[in-house]
Amino acid sequence: MSRKLNVAIVGATGVVGGIMRRLIAAERDNWGEVRLIASARSAGKHLSVGEESIEVQALTAEVFDGIDIAHFDLPDEVSAEWVPVAAAKGVVVIDKSAHFRMDPEVPLVCREANPEAVHDRPKGVIANANCTTLALIPTLAALDEAFGLVSMSVASYQAASGSGKEGLEALYEQIAKVADADRIGTETGDVRALLGEDFNAPFGAPLALNVVPKVGGWREDGWTSEELKVRNESRKILGLPDLKVASTCVRVPVAVGHSQAVHAMFEREVSVEAARRVLADAPGVDLVDDPDAGVYPMPIDGVGKSGTQVGRLRQSIDFPNSLEFFVVGDNLMKGAALNSIETADLVRRELENR
Ligand SMILES: NC(=O)c1ccc[n+]([C@@H]2O[C@H](COP(=O)([O-])OP(=O)(O)OC[C@H]3O[C@@H](n4cnc5c(N)ncnc54)[C@H](OP(=O)(O)O)[C@@H]3O)[C@@H](O)[C@H]2O)c1
Repeated sequence: MSRKLNVAIVGATGVVGGIMRRLIAAERDNWGEVRLIASARSAGKHLSVGEESIEVQALTAEVFDGIDIAHFDLPDEVSAEWVPVAAAKGVVVIDKSAHFRMDPEVPLVCREANPEAVHDRPKGVIANANCTTLALIPTLAALDEAFGLVSMSVASYQAASGSGKEGLEALYEQIAKVADADRIGTETGDVRALLGEDFNAPFGAPLALNVVPKVGGWREDGWTSEELKVRNESRKILGLPDLKVASTCVRVPVAVGHSQAVHAMFEREVSVEAARRVLADAPGVDLVDDPDAGVYPMPIDGVGKSGTQVGRLRQSIDFPNSLEFFVVGDNLMKGAALNSIETADLVRRELENR
């Protein structure tokens, strides 16, 4: 194929869509037309892709005519309806919603773990994992190859933007409101009294000056959808169907950047020094681990970075063959847009070489 491929960003007006536009602009020469798509509410608006100003089109079947690869950045139920429409037109879809991820006929791809999976896509659809899982995978894939991952226990500290533009705006609004108040948070009930019921959406409780131990919807036996995603999607991407996973997902008042405290157990003996050597060379991982110099991963330093940051590496005291560490990943970059761009790059090379 000699022509350049045409690419669409579906959900171009969202928070992930905004990062997608920036990343596509950075590799603009690789693509022919770039088409921006969102709901009818946004049709006619102009958004930038680098120097270009492109008109947003409403989501219809016809809007996929002539498109080769489409990045879907839509709510689950909208993806569920429209991904098959685009795929039926021969478009290769890379979908970031949760809807197709566990479908056995849809590969769930992270370049650092299973890049070859992109080529086997019987439905024409490739799924992008959730942002919490994607922050972990580059580190886990490298450690698994070196030491054999057996189990992990994860506690997450997830940013408001994981809930899209609605979540981000809600956090900023709440911060503005509590910043104006005196001594807020010093007495029980202060934050609730100030913010009241109006600020329960979209997190289920106020997020300013608070942490909320519920991310996603409730599932059986007290688990949340996000906690089950960390387990199921990690198993699928790493090709470890028996990986033992315990996960607690928590929303914190951070704008961008998901953090996770991880306890991981391995088949083989592991030391901090050996793990550091592995991670220093691991693709997609930035080792940020110099405790004596006060260097460790934090969301304020991880935002906008391509690599996920890993540090606070410690040998577990009471568990054999185990490590403790802290991971920070930009949920909008590797957790969403960047991973999708990397997957598209693999597909583009495949299609261009046909
Ligand atoms: N945020 C993250 O950290 C993150 C990480 C990984 C995966 N994801 C996934 O990525 C997807 C997008 O998330 P986001 O955070 O970017 O959400 P968002 O900020 O709420 O943006 C949603 C986008 O979907 C469009 N949309 C909504 N309803 C539509 C409809 N009926 N028809 C056409 N377009 C519609 C919106 O267009 P309008 O502006 O026109 O309404 C907007 O462009 C979701 O599936 C999410 O789970 C998000």
